Parts: sequence; structure tokens; C-alpha cells
Amino acid sequence: MKHLLSVCDMDNVVDLLDLADDYKEGRIREKVLRGKTLAMIFEKSSTRTRVSFEVGAFQMGAQPLYLSASDLQLGRGEPIADTARTLSRYVDGIMIRAISHSDVVELAGEASVPVINGLTDLEHPCQALADMQTIREKLGGFDGRLVFVGDGNNVCHSLLLITATLGMDMDVACPPGYEPDPGIREMAGKIADETGSRIRVIHDPSEAVRGADVVYTDVWVSMGYEDEAEDRLEVFRPYQVNMELMELAAPEAIFMHCLPAVRGQETTAEVIDGPHSVVWDQAENRLHAQKAIMHWLMGDI
Ligand code: CP
Ligand code: NVA
Repeated sequence: MKHLLSVCDMDNVVDLLDLADDYKEGRIREKVLRGKTLAMIFEKSSTRTRVSFEVGAFQMGAQPLYLSASDLQLGRGEPIADTARTLSRYVDGIMIRAISHSDVVELAGEASVPVINGLTDLEHPCQALADMQTIREKLGGFDGRLVFVGDGNNVCHSLLLITATLGMDMDVACPPGYEPDPGIREMAGKIADETGSRIRVIHDPSEAVRGADVVYTDVWVSMGYEDEAEDRLEVFRPYQVNMELMELAAPEAIFMHCLPAVRGQETTAEVIDGPHSVVWDQAENRLHAQKAIMHWLMGDI
């Protein structure tokens, strides 16, 4: 049984990107999920992931089922393993946005249908695939350098793994103490050694962004970290992606953000609503990239 818990589970990222482009360009008309059902469990809020999976599944012929974790017996303490066994008797795939990555690993371990990670504390692989589709569309390939400025957590982790897989250079500029997880760094480093790309984790955003082709940021206070908000707003202040920082990047550099964004914190209105920004194409590509993922994991052909 194949699952998508991590970028590392993608059999072939380029094939998935090509399939995502096929969906975007309307080259796949057949409803490859006809008659199927996708359960979508959410333990956290979502706009893009929920709507793009729900609409995508519907357009591919499947019935999506939105399941808020607090409405399920899961929210009253039913074990995740029992939830996996039960849902597997009804549905053809499970997408889950969970607080803890280990819960998703456990769910996948017990499920007899494919499980798709729709964001955990460790990774956001669906986002990363859509991001690479956007980069290929805008820059024509992966020869450039991506700089992630901010919190080295879930979004940054999946970007490290996917850029390494595609042979794209990536730098992370983060405050001391907010570096990416060592296990992810090691894994991405090993992949990068094989593909010939370079990864750097530094603390100076100006040094990192100089000459960058892609400047990417994420919120300073991720879901579940609200009690650290006061400290984080202080620590991350020098890491705002504003026009001054963007001017250090390559002249044609693109600005990316997984969204939702907080203007005035990790970026400014001038940047996110300005000419470098590709965030709406990036958000749109979630739909196409996830259709490719569902086709790969749940499709009949
Ligand atoms: N980027 C992303 O996953 O957005 P949502 O939290 O709205 O799903
Ligand atoms: N890092 C953010 C991403 C939101 C899509 C979070 O986990 O809240």
C-alpha cells in the first residue's frame, strides 16, 4: 500500500509534476476516481488544503468527505489505529491534516487504503509539490536557488527534501534555535549529494537572499505554536521579507508563500501584493498537484 506521508514517498517527482501539468492544461478528461470516496480528516484549520482536495476529488469523479477530528470519535479518544481500520472499510483514500506526524504514520500503518499527509508538524508534501510546479512554470526548471527565510519547520522541511530531489540549490535563513529538524537536514543532505545540489542553513537573511531566484517565507507563528507568539514575533523580526530584502535577490526573482500570510509580519503588502509575488498561482497549483497525487495513489489507471 502506497502512502504520501513525506516528500520521500513520491516515487518520481518529475512524473508527478508532469501529471499535475496535464491536469492544469486539461489534458486528462477521464474521471479516474469515478465512484470512489476520499475521507479528509482535519485536526487543524485549513482553506487551501480543504477546498483544493474537496474540489479536486469531486472533479476527478470521487466523493470527498470532510471530517473534522473534533466531530469524529477520534476527538473523544478513539485510537487513531481504530479510526484507520474503520475508515478503510468505507473509503478509498484518507487525507489527514494532523497535529502530530507520528499519528499520521500510525494511521498509515493500520490503513488498508492510501493515506495522504495534508500537513503535520514535520512535513507538508502536497504544498511542496505545488510549489515545484509553480517554480518550473515561472523559471522554466530547477537550475536556480531557492532561499527560505523564516521558521525551519514543516513547509521548510518538505521544500528541503523536494529541492534536493530535483537537484535545486536551497538555503535556509532562520533565527538560531529555529533551524530545520536535524533528521530532515541529514536526509535532504544525502539526497542532495546524489543529485548534486547544495543546501545551506545560515542565520543572516541578507547573505542568503543575495542573488536568489526564489524567496520563500511562511508564518512566524504556525498553527499550534500560538502560546509562543510573543517571543516569536520578537525573534523573527529581522527575518521579514520586505522590499529591502527582495532587492538583494535576482532582478527576476519570484516571491512565494504557502499562505495564509500575515502582512506586516513575515512579509509586507508591498512584496506579497507586488510584481515579484506568485502566491495566487502557487495556491491554484495545490489543486492540480493534488489531482496528480490522488491519480497516482487512488486512480484506477
Ligand atoms: N498552505 C496551506 O496549506 O493552506 P491552508 O492552511 O489554508 O490549507
Ligand atoms: N507552517 C504553517 C503552514 C500553514 C500552511 C503551519 O503549520 O501553520
